Amino acid sequence: MSELQTITMQQLQKMGGKIARNQQSYIVSQLLLKHWLLSIHDCTYGQGRFYTLIRDRLIFLSGGDIRIWIPWLVKPDLFILKPVWKQYDVLRYLKVRFDVIVIDPPFSPYNRGQEKRKYYLPSEGLGTPTRIIISGIQLARLLNVPYILLHYNRLQGFGLDIIDGYEYIYRLYGHTQKSYFLLLKV
Ligand SMILES: C[S@@+](CC[C@H](N)C(=O)[O-])C[C@H]1O[C@@H](n2cnc3c(N)ncnc32)[C@H](O)[C@@H]1O
Repeated sequence: MSELQTITMQQLQKMGGKIARNQQSYIVSQLLLKHWLLSIHDCTYGQGRFYTLIRDRLIFLSGGDIRIWIPWLVKPDLFILKPVWKQYDVLRYLKVRFDVIVIDPPFSPYNRGQEKRKYYLPSEGLGTPTRIIISGIQLARLLNVPYILLHYNRLQGFGLDIIDGYEYIYRLYGHTQKSYFLLLKV
């Protein structure tokens, strides 16, 4: 496993401006640009928050989700309204070579045992985080995508090598929390 860089909310706040306001996007952008991952399928797209700082650098941005979070912060080139385990049914017909599959499953910072729970909020999750992550890895394998970018609250590669990443330390409602942005080799 490669060394992870630790980055804190305070460090990013000190950078000011757009970076301070789009911290997760800054971390994701660092990983995508460093490894030249510019053609992306994000299988838990949400509002597209990860791409606010980097949209104009991306060659192709495709997103999938079980719901459309209107308004999107970043509009994808393609959107698939399906759970991750059904997205291959659409993607298999595209002639696009993706560099990376991004996975950001719903997780609660307060409950580290929640991977066994079916829903963490009935409105936001379909399947457990573990099922979503494993399905995202299967999707990458089916589409021959070489990397996964995983955001999760555990330092875990799900059987894949962690080749780069960040430990992100932030404050939420007065508590210190950690999450991990991991680049995994498929
Ligand atoms: C933490 S949010 C992702 C936020 C996103 N990274 C962003 O930048 O806006 C998790 C997303 O996973 C979606 N989701 C939950 N279950 C899913 C499933 N089985 N397949 C695909 N997406 C799912 C939720 O609707 C939610 O938008």
